[in-house]
Amino acid sequence: MKILILLIALLAVPSVRPQQSDLIANTEGRTTVSLNGSWQTIVDPYESGYYNYRYQPSDNGYFKNTKPKSKSDLIEYDFDSSATLNVPGDWNTQSDQFFFYEGTIWYKKSFDYQRQPNTRLFVYFGAANYFADVYLNGEKIGQHEGGFTPFNFEITKLVKDTGNYLVVKVDNKRRRDAVPTLMTDWWNYGGLTRDVKLIETPSTFVHDYLIQLQKGSRNRVGGWVKLNGEKLKQQITIKIAEAGIGKTFTTDNNGFVEIDFSADLKLWSPESPKLYDVSIEAETDRVRDQIGFRSIETRGTDILLNGRPIFLHGVCIHEEAPLRGGRAYSREDARTLLGWAKELGANFVRLAHYPHNEHMVREADRMGILVWSEIPVYWTIQWENPATLENARNQLSEMIARDKNRAAIVIWSVANETPLSDARLTFLKNLITYARSLDPGRLMSAAMERHYINDTTQMIDDPLGEYLDVLGCNEYVGWYDGLPEKADKLEWRSKYQKPLVMSEFGGDALYGHHGDAATRWTEEYQESIYQHQIGMLKKIPFLRGTSPWILTDFRSPRRPLPKIQDYWNRKGLISSRGEKKKAFYVLQRWYRELN
Ligand code: GCU
Repeated sequence: MKILILLIALLAVPSVRPQQSDLIANTEGRTTVSLNGSWQTIVDPYESGYYNYRYQPSDNGYFKNTKPKSKSDLIEYDFDSSATLNVPGDWNTQSDQFFFYEGTIWYKKSFDYQRQPNTRLFVYFGAANYFADVYLNGEKIGQHEGGFTPFNFEITKLVKDTGNYLVVKVDNKRRRDAVPTLMTDWWNYGGLTRDVKLIETPSTFVHDYLIQLQKGSRNRVGGWVKLNGEKLKQQITIKIAEAGIGKTFTTDNNGFVEIDFSADLKLWSPESPKLYDVSIEAETDRVRDQIGFRSIETRGTDILLNGRPIFLHGVCIHEEAPLRGGRAYSREDARTLLGWAKELGANFVRLAHYPHNEHMVREADRMGILVWSEIPVYWTIQWENPATLENARNQLSEMIARDKNRAAIVIWSVANETPLSDARLTFLKNLITYARSLDPGRLMSAAMERHYINDTTQMIDDPLGEYLDVLGCNEYVGWYDGLPEKADKLEWRSKYQKPLVMSEFGGDALYGHHGDAATRWTEEYQESIYQHQIGMLKKIPFLRGTSPWILTDFRSPRRPLPKIQDYWNRKGLISSRGEKKKAFYVLQRWYRELN
């Protein structure tokens, strides 16, 4: 009996074991060489650089970068005389011919690299949309599925001092079994959309770590460190010099150690986004990072930041580059977008519907903006397909692997507007359980739908709510659902004693298009939606956050209305040229009240 009780007790303690992702944590704190810039490219809609005419994968594809050896040699491609594309960057906005292009483009980058003795070398991609096959010097080094999370491959044994050629086949074709699936309301920007770099490490290096306050605590730091290499049993010191902290631990034979120590730290919050210089020092390696420490939890219908109730007044953001359009990728893009959110009076952003680039979350850390980060399990994916589940799990683990040390991120979201079914519930429960095992310290959510129980009462009783910490709900009262004033009569109910974030609401308006408040597409109509929405939202007793749809207009292939949409979703509070619409000021006024 005693043994049984002990066993149960052991199972109850949430051990923070490292996930099996081989992502190198924190490339910012490492010696890296950027491979950004112009890459030679070959557009290959028929994938003839990959398959032979029998549609069999060819051993002699474009990844061989073969050059004719004599005048009679037959080689039907040549990267070096082909057009170039910029990396990072989507291909759709770099040339009109690629605006609607969905298919394969091959990228090639030549580089020399004198590796230091006793070091290892990795190639790191911030993201490639959607499927990437990666080759170095003609050898396949790996592949990756998913357009919004990072991946890296070791190239220590393959790299040469001079004349290296890195070839990447990027295919953004949509597939029914993929994540996301065929239908989305955002542009399917293809390409090497984020930074590409070489990372040099010592032969045994600090591969990954989690250093955050323990769940529910404001003075105990917990987490782990994982080494990678031969010399796995080492002394590790966690240093936070400014706080006079230097804690030493010893890794086990697998190079892993859990860390746990008390610390009197200034807590991170939107008002004071305190980041500490933290260094993880092993005998063979040292990594530095900037980490904020805060606690986040729920109690009943409240969300508590550092033990105090908080209202998340925010906005949704797509990773659409401000002012120029296309996939955003830079620190400047992040500053502009988050700067506009701050101007709105936001302390929170929902990064929709996929993990945004790392500059965005690190800028949120610095600017003191709380973040909802999501994987693109969007609308109706193949719930019963095990490969689809594995793909979603992989994107989830990569999202968490990259951003688990970011104080700004408080909510992981596993889905958006997914239809009720048992298969869907099983799928999403699997993701939630997995996320909690990878990171027990953050809140789980999803953007769910609601339904009317009578003409004036909305109910949130999606069975998924049972497994979430924070309920997310999308509603378009006044746009897809009636006229703006309909919101005045609505009452909201929830089956759950949990906090609600209204994760989407709003409507379209073309900047500069004016008329009376009943005329669709005008700024006045959108303004009216916000006025009535705010009245309704203020009456919801368990509402603890809002992230209206959306900060800026963004491209969507589902929006063809000429002279109004022209393939832009116009629900932005700010136009694609950075112009603020009337509704921006309605929301700003409310958020200033809340501040
Ligand atoms: C949906 C969806 C968004 C979409 C928005 C819209 O709720 O989540 O991705 O863009 O509504 O219709 O504008």
